[in-house]
Amino acid sequence: MGKIVILSGATNSGSRLNGLVGYSRERLEQAGHEVNVIDIAELPAEDLIRANWNSEAIKQALALVEDADGVVVASPVYKASYSGVTKTFLDLLPQKGLERKVLLPLFIGGSIAHLLAIDYALKPVLAALGATYLLGGVYSVDQGVQRQEDGTFELSDDIKSRLTNALAQLSGEVAFISSGTQSIKVG
Ligand SMILES: Cc1cc2nc3c(=O)[nH]c(=O)nc-3n(C[C@H](O)[C@H](O)[C@H](O)COP(=O)(O)O)c2cc1C
Repeated sequence: MGKIVILSGATNSGSRLNGLVGYSRERLEQAGHEVNVIDIAELPAEDLIRANWNSEAIKQALALVEDADGVVVASPVYKASYSGVTKTFLDLLPQKGLERKVLLPLFIGGSIAHLLAIDYALKPVLAALGATYLLGGVYSVDQGVQRQEDGTFELSDDIKSRLTNALAQLSGEVAFISSGTQSIKVG
């Protein structure tokens, strides 16, 4: 099956965004894909802020994206947009670094009022990076992901259902792209 990278722009490990990321990873792995999660905040902060392309950690993360057939861009909504953490990594991608990849935006916000942040803030950036195949995206409000006492997360039925549908679509497209890539390589 294909390769999928989940870019997570959460600022802390306790963020409910990680509930959405963990669920997505599990479902995509169950579908047979190789899934890598890039937790951007765990990359060296100075390398991100100073756009240090010579950093080994940055090179490894960029290589995962380059190799992927599908990319989930997961971010909390901060100030009516995606988080600054997310942008530090997007800024490091090559000019057409998302060409020929299927993109799935995945946002969580405190309010539904910023639902369109996916469309007006993230999508133009993804398009500038060469992405032409953008799936609709999933937006959850905080109430869609409950933090449990043991540190795990419980997703609401509504979020599970919407996320499962979006992931199934991503999975199908990635399987199609990766099988096409293989036949080109073989042929
Ligand atoms: C600095 C900051 C700015 C935020 N700005 C917004 C915003 O503009 N719109 C919104 O819906 N939520 C906003 N939120 C709320 C978060 O998107 C959301 O509640 C959070 O990512 C999920 O909470 P958690 O990370 O604490 O689990 C903001 C949160 C912070 C910390």
